[in-house]
Amino acid sequence: MPEDAVLAAAADSVASLALAGLRARPKTLPARLFYDDAGCRLFYRITELPEYYLTRTELALLAQVAAEVAAMLPAPALLVEYGASDETKAGFLLDQRRGGVPVFAAYVPIDVAAPALDALQGRLARARPELRVWPVAADFLAPIALPLGGGERARLGFFPGSTIGNLDPAQARLFLAGVRRALGPGGRLLVGVDLRKDPAILLPAYDDAAGVTAAFNRNLLVRLNREAGATFDPLAFDHRALWNAEEGRIEMHLVSRRPQAVTVAGEIVRFAAGEMIHTENSYKHSLSGFAGLAAAGGWRTERVWTDPAGLFSVHLLGG
Ligand code: AVI
Repeated sequence: MPEDAVLAAAADSVASLALAGLRARPKTLPARLFYDDAGCRLFYRITELPEYYLTRTELALLAQVAAEVAAMLPAPALLVEYGASDETKAGFLLDQRRGGVPVFAAYVPIDVAAPALDALQGRLARARPELRVWPVAADFLAPIALPLGGGERARLGFFPGSTIGNLDPAQARLFLAGVRRALGPGGRLLVGVDLRKDPAILLPAYDDAAGVTAAFNRNLLVRLNREAGATFDPLAFDHRALWNAEEGRIEMHLVSRRPQAVTVAGEIVRFAAGEMIHTENSYKHSLSGFAGLAAAGGWRTERVWTDPAGLFSVHLLGG
């Protein structure tokens, strides 16, 4: 589950989160609410869309980078993944061996979704019986005490998917500083970061021809109808993705197609025609901009890899 699903959203907190955002001007809804079961399935479909270059580009980069990263680490090493509902990306690192022995002896997947972590642990017990797996069910934006001290000689944090782009720069700096503290002296962090590029490439990635991202965005309203006693007609809102050049981010919005009044948890929320609900930011960094952000979080950039087209980057940060 990606970073924005950082809240174990109980029924009443979904309503209070929604109302807080809908009372604000401009209206907002927290992106963490995207990731209910249907939202997770829609996000998975997004990652397979032709327009959504991020996932396939990062996977190709990780396939190339994993051996180089592993070669820099003394073994046995510990891998700590932030936002780990599935082990596909970590698998490239966990596959690395030296002298016939896996470089990573232990794996700490951190995710707010305990059922996803249970399933991941079951799969790994079958596929990699020699790997010690210590799942941590937690909001990884909160300070986490890691199960360290298992004899590891190196600790690598892993934050793929450009989920860091869903944090604003202040949150990203705090997150990076927290990871630095949690991993301790000598810890390193491998992070996937989507790069700034022509909006003609960026915009279709967030507004695909098949309408999957639109369904993902509108699913927020479907979720509020189910979990917050809301009366939204999801089709009375258009999906809109726009590039905010000043802030360096893609924004997603839901735009009211007409004047309308909706009830949310017993409260009437009015929309003018064309009024927008801001639902997500996805920051796109330059290489130097991200190095600056990492430095502000207490990290030094050791290596950066990009794909040949310069779409996506993977950064190895150290102390
Ligand atoms: C999870 N995160 C990195 C995705 C992104 O690209 O910002 C979420 C997403 N939103 C719309 N499409 C994908």
